Amino acid sequence: MVADRSEAVGQEVVQLIEQEGGQAFFHTLDVRSDESCAALVAATLARYGQLDIAFNNAGVFAAPTLTEDQGLDLWQRMLDVNLTGVFNCMVHELRAMKERGGSIINTASVAGISGTYGAAAYTASKHGVIGLTRSAALEYGKYGVRINALCPGLIETPMTVGPDSGFNEKMINAGVRSSALRRQGRPEEMAEMVLWLASDNSSYATGGHFVVDGGLSA
Ligand SMILES: NC(=O)c1ccc[n+]([C@@H]2O[C@H](COP(=O)([O-])OP(=O)(O)OC[C@H]3O[C@@H](n4cnc5c(N)ncnc54)[C@H](O)[C@@H]3O)[C@@H](O)[C@H]2O)c1
Repeated sequence: MVADRSEAVGQEVVQLIEQEGGQAFFHTLDVRSDESCAALVAATLARYGQLDIAFNNAGVFAAPTLTEDQGLDLWQRMLDVNLTGVFNCMVHELRAMKERGGSIINTASVAGISGTYGAAAYTASKHGVIGLTRSAALEYGKYGVRINALCPGLIETPMTVGPDSGFNEKMINAGVRSSALRRQGRPEEMAEMVLWLASDNSSYATGGHFVVDGGLSA
């Protein structure tokens, strides 16, 4: 099940999966809404009968501003999508997984483990994702549900590159210079970690946050 606020983005992912010989279905989702998250999990259970893996990856970023200028609207937008969104999804995923066990992966960020100049609200939301992940992992380990967080560095996606990006060239160059590998990461390089956390190969990993950042935080 591929879910996103944007149908165009979701359908593109469905097509990519189908081109690789897989099967996928799109479901509209607004992670800010508890009802929307409930409907997604219900639709997944109706189609497949069970939920084994969930990847909570939706997120938003905003152009940098000093903390005093961020404003309550931006603060609320970052928290609503990046933190409450993960919470809303997890509530319904956990209920669906409690009987059989499963694996949940939440996207945090290197901004979940260190400060970010000009992005206090985003950074607070991502620190929150790690706290939420750790606490839920403690509660649901006994049900065989593993819950981990992914901490990407600077990755080439519409969030950092292109017209809707909150990043400018100066920020990208500074990030690249600070990375040990001296380049941005690719989405595929995040997917490798997510696949490992989703699979039984990571059977002893829970409550962790896994940094894949080309050495940015090193
Ligand atoms: N790109 C980076 O450098 C980077 C670094 C660290 C963490 N992250 C995190 O990775 C995740 C994926 O981001 P990305 O880089 O692919 O950015 P992106 O903007 O390409 O993707 C984010 C997706 O979230 C969706 N979304 C936004 N609000 C939503 C909502 N309310 N309900 C449902 N879907 C919603 C968007 O439609 C979009 O498809 C985010 O959580 C982001 O914070 C990204």
